[in-house]
Amino acid sequence: KSNINILGIETSCDDTGCAIMNEQGKLLSETLYSQNLMHLRNGGIIPDIAQDLHRTYIKPTVDKALEEAKLSMEDITAIAVTLKPGLPLSLAVGMRYAKHLARRFKKPIIPIHHMQAHALVARMHHNINFPYLVLLISGGHCLLAVVQDVNNFKLLGESIDCAPGEIFDKVARRMKLRNLPEYSKICGGQAVEIAASKATNPHQFKLPLPLAECKDCNFSFNGLKTSVLFNLHKKEQEHNTVAHKLIPEINDLCAAMLMATTRHLVHRTQRAMMFCQERNLIPQENQLLIVSGGVACNNYIFSALQMLCNESSYEIYRPAPKLCTDNGVMIAWNGLEKWRKGLDIITDFNSLDIEAS
Ligand code: KG4
Ligand code: ZN
Repeated sequence: KSNINILGIETSCDDTGCAIMNEQGKLLSETLYSQNLMHLRNGGIIPDIAQDLHRTYIKPTVDKALEEAKLSMEDITAIAVTLKPGLPLSLAVGMRYAKHLARRFKKPIIPIHHMQAHALVARMHHNINFPYLVLLISGGHCLLAVVQDVNNFKLLGESIDCAPGEIFDKVARRMKLRNLPEYSKICGGQAVEIAASKATNPHQFKLPLPLAECKDCNFSFNGLKTSVLFNLHKKEQEHNTVAHKLIPEINDLCAAMLMATTRHLVHRTQRAMMFCQERNLIPQENQLLIVSGGVACNNYIFSALQMLCNESSYEIYRPAPKLCTDNGVMIAWNGLEKWRKGLDIITDFNSLDIEAS
């Protein structure tokens, strides 16, 4: 048995995740309760419902992780828990439960930044050295950063409005893709990816390249969303019917949206690479791009980024899909990385609280 065991707890959005990892970074157990289907049914995340579900599932999720690892709370060295960013009501459940366990079993808390955990988890299975470039794309975030160390992140750019997963989810909902049986049990992003793969004439739709003239690394998806919804409305009027009955058109529109999103992501990542080169932020022989977050599961987007990396002498890596989306493993891993360096191990955690974000 290892002497050090880190318990990780994640409740920032709609997944109750938990994992236990030992000193060597070996994963002893992982549990995840996803609220995804419930929120799909409701047409989006309702914070009060998300909080209730976290409250219901937090204890069973942690208990099951302990049981699977054949450990008790006494064997746990520290509790890593997501502090921010996320839905305040959801975050509060994980934080409160972590504090409860920490008080009762006299364990320190290691607060974790959800985005940093997404950015670091790639190091779990691979020998990846600092610094590296990271592109995080999910339903809540879109950012480019240089990961310089466990506690040192240089933000290069982020979305000035919404996130790419959010527009996929919203457009899929507006198209009522869930009314079609093959899409009924998957998230909007996955539905858009499958619909796009069936497109025959995506170029009939001309969508804008956001922030084309801006020389920074920020993102914007609102204009794209508006343009997609406008085109959808036009098609409905033209054919005098509702979107989900316009199969070839919605496939084409999904493909056009995916292509436009990809173009934007590639464009900004290319800028970030140039910026890193100008500022000497990443050594030439060590150029690596990590892509993570739920949208990183998209193979079309990943292939385009792969091509960019080939041209730019960057290596590229994305964690396995279940590590790209929200999970407790990345929180335990980040906790371990901090533990190893003696960072943020908090014993007086009464003042530690979630912030509205
Ligand atoms: O990281 P994540 O689990 O949760 C946060 O948003 O933090 O990401 C979920 C997002 C959703 O918006 C979902 O539609 C999107 O990731 N997503 C995808 C794919 N799989 C999940 N987007 C595009 N293509 C996919 N294959
Ligand atoms: Zn996330």
